[in-house]
Amino acid sequence: MRNFTFQNPTKILFGKDQIAGIAREIPDGQRILLTCGGGSIRRNGVYDQVMAALAGREVLEFAGIEPNPTYETLMEAVRLVREQQVDFLLAVGGGSVIDGTKFIAAAAPFAGDPWAILAERAPIERALPLGAVLTLPATGSEMNCFAVVTRRASQDKMAFGHPLLYPRFAALDPTATFTLPPRQIGNGAVDAFAHVMEQYLTYPVNAPVQDRFAEGLLLTLIEEGPKALANPEDYDARANLMWCATLALNGLIGAGVPDDWTTHMIGHEITALHGLDHAQTLAIVLPNVLAARRERKREKLLQYAARVWGLSAGDENERIDAAIASTRAFFERMGVKTYLRDYGIGTDAVAPLLAQLERHGLTALGEHQDVDLATSRIILEASVAP
Ligand code: NZQ
Ligand code: ZN
Repeated sequence: MRNFTFQNPTKILFGKDQIAGIAREIPDGQRILLTCGGGSIRRNGVYDQVMAALAGREVLEFAGIEPNPTYETLMEAVRLVREQQVDFLLAVGGGSVIDGTKFIAAAAPFAGDPWAILAERAPIERALPLGAVLTLPATGSEMNCFAVVTRRASQDKMAFGHPLLYPRFAALDPTATFTLPPRQIGNGAVDAFAHVMEQYLTYPVNAPVQDRFAEGLLLTLIEEGPKALANPEDYDARANLMWCATLALNGLIGAGVPDDWTTHMIGHEITALHGLDHAQTLAIVLPNVLAARRERKREKLLQYAARVWGLSAGDENERIDAAIASTRAFFERMGVKTYLRDYGIGTDAVAPLLAQLERHGLTALGEHQDVDLATSRIILEASVAP
């Protein structure tokens, strides 16, 4: 196992009615800005629960943070925060709202052009405190310090992070996810699955705790995801999915092991150019990353085949093929299509996507930093159609 430091300061309030407890987590006398998306929280009662919990507190609102949150929209919120001297940010929604709120938290006190936080990785010295009420299990943003923001004008989808951006607390009430459409349940399970795979499916470093945790999360997603799709009000399935998604990207399973974010990096470019949902891009790219890197990932692919898919007998190459096919079949079972062509995108998309990777310096990806543009081309060409 590799050396690591691990500290995750986010306090989790998990379960039914836990939204009622959020006021205790926000110091008295603070001017709060509630941030949210396009209206789901008003339709499903989460907004009312949050406002009831914050009765008597000073609460302003900023609505309209879109999926794949944009710099352009977030800068409007930054202006509001500065004008109104907001003290505390409360993100209520999915990963996009939480990510967007992290950017607002870092940008509001930033001296200079906040775009530098994304484009130049400018150092963050201060950030407003934030909390989260999660309504969509997927990204893990509720318990990590990362965020992904898109600049619409230049089609840049960029990630950044800083320890000051861990939410102070996150309320995870599985009943708040009952109103999710099937597409978002499928997306959430696929995103969490990909997060686990990108920290697990590299090469062995004799870290059995991390491996067993990762395999447990994968198996739980495979078992609980279809239940959540079949019965939207199955509390236990929603609860298990929610906790899986949080643990998939809160730093725990990635501590002390190599990681490979190739799938996410290529996926972000597909969203930037074609607007696909984040998880749709992962369902397309991940099986082809595994296939293209099968020699480099051989030992872990065989471990994955055996422990997650029960494939431990017969020819090794056939086991690997079957494990990759099972992965794709799981994504499809969750209702997420796995080829670019399913979304009306053809071979002519490959060259512009490679140009985006090059423009963003993403030319040495993977656990060995050897996924160059030639390898990304192989992955993307295989992603178009079977
Ligand atoms: O905007 P509203 O009206 O709230 O509707 C949202 C949105 O349309 C809806 N929704 C959310 N909760 C709902 C609901 N609808 C009904 N009932 C509910 N309970 O779902 C739609 C999608 O929401 P969004 O927040 O965009 O989805 P997700 O949570 O998948 O977030 C995706 C974003 O997170 C980034 C992605 O790149 C993408 O921009 N990621 C962030 C990461 C991180 N911070 O660590 C890591 C991830 O890999 C990912 O890159
Ligand atoms: Zn993701």
